[in-house]
Amino acid sequence: MPARRYEGAPSPAGAAPLAQPLTFEFSGKVAPNLLKKAAMAEDLATWSARNLEERGIPTPEMIELYRRWGEGGWGVITTGNIDIEFDMLDAVGDGIITPECPPSGPRFEAFKELAAAAKAHGSLIVAQVTHPGRQLSARIRPDTISASAIQLPPQGMGDYAKPREATKEDIARVIDGFAHAASYLQQAGFDGIELHGAHGYLLSQFLSEDSNRRTDEYGGSLANRMRIVVEIAEEIKRRVAPGFLLAVKLNSVEFQEKGIRPADVGVLCGTLQELGFDYVELSGGNHENIGYGLTKESTQKREAYFLEFVGDIVPHLSRTKKYLAGGFRTLGAMVEALGILDGISLGRPATQEPRLAADLLAGRVTAAVRPRDDVLDDFLTYLVGSATQIRQVAYGREPFDLSNAAAVQSFRTDMAAHLGRQLADPDNLEFRGYPDLTAPETGSHPYGTPY
Ligand SMILES: Cc1cc2nc3c(=O)[nH]c(=O)nc-3n(C[C@H](O)[C@H](O)[C@H](O)COP(=O)(O)O)c2cc1C
Repeated sequence: MPARRYEGAPSPAGAAPLAQPLTFEFSGKVAPNLLKKAAMAEDLATWSARNLEERGIPTPEMIELYRRWGEGGWGVITTGNIDIEFDMLDAVGDGIITPECPPSGPRFEAFKELAAAAKAHGSLIVAQVTHPGRQLSARIRPDTISASAIQLPPQGMGDYAKPREATKEDIARVIDGFAHAASYLQQAGFDGIELHGAHGYLLSQFLSEDSNRRTDEYGGSLANRMRIVVEIAEEIKRRVAPGFLLAVKLNSVEFQEKGIRPADVGVLCGTLQELGFDYVELSGGNHENIGYGLTKESTQKREAYFLEFVGDIVPHLSRTKKYLAGGFRTLGAMVEALGILDGISLGRPATQEPRLAADLLAGRVTAAVRPRDDVLDDFLTYLVGSATQIRQVAYGREPFDLSNAAAVQSFRTDMAAHLGRQLADPDNLEFRGYPDLTAPETGSHPYGTPY
């Protein structure tokens, strides 16, 4: 049975408006179209519970995943989180580049291969780089740094690490980490870097008044709270050769009380432009509040969850391009949003269909696959389902169909068993990752074979 797709108002102009190239003013990089594959943590890099230096190297499966996205017609492909410390991770299985990693050797070669695979058909490959700050699992390391020493309450898989207020030395190490990663990635063939300033990670912890209670030059006014981002951007510019794209992902919900006040939005945007940020990707959410920019779709009136906030920000950005991630599913809504955005970023639709951009642009489809309502209403199933689809593609298989009742049922059984095993042995970091599908009819179709 063919997958069920979203229905929506058609785009009178078809896909043509999305097929325009997008020139990034500061770096001069050109994306071949306006569709972007959003950052999604792959959980496919190497991992060792004991030997830190063996962590975070892209595996052949991770490279295969990017080869498939590279075939998929995306203007920009963003990697999942890449961390800048071996033990301060967004998640086990992320790629890692620390200041100690030289631009040579097996890690560097693997990043080079990943970039080449993603770029093979003309997409730009941009690496998302992050520091989790207080959103670090205590299973990985018991202590961490944050803007202020405010620990997050335990959630789902256990406690968060206990943060202390970052010292000047800690901040200098973070700046060095981002800047070293940028230079390393440029040498490995990446087109640019996207700083993760959203979803409650370290940079967002500094930006938001709620989590930043500092009284020194990194806290207080917005100019102070964004100082760390400014210093990272300046250091990156110092270390990379011209032509490397610099971008940032920000929370649109941050642009509210307790985050960034409306009066400060102009200051923030003006500073980003002065620093030469090529694009801002707007998103929403954090670990405390339905995570990673994901929201229950059925409760949303608009197709793009955060579009209403974007209206306040957009007028302040003319040279820095604007993408929005979160909820885009139909061609009509994507084209309409180009009235205020420069590009459209897609997350979960790109795990269900790695070639979705090419199919939309060629008019073969006009919307993403619509997961069943019980998936749309269940944040965890939708998130883990997407992550399992990522795994399937990495292992040469076709992603299972989230619009199909039998496939979803079979996935739920595997997911429950997997999570049960993890919860039974929470400290065992060797058992990690997302479920594999065991039913032959959902788990083993070769990539490119329709169900
Ligand atoms: C499996 C998975 C992993 C994700 N990992 C990241 C990440 O590493 N960095 C990030 O900024 N957002 C991450 N996200 C959020 C997406 O980039 C995107 O903002 C979100 O999925 C909303 O877009 P969508 O409605 O098109 O899926 C992740 C989402 C999923 C489903």
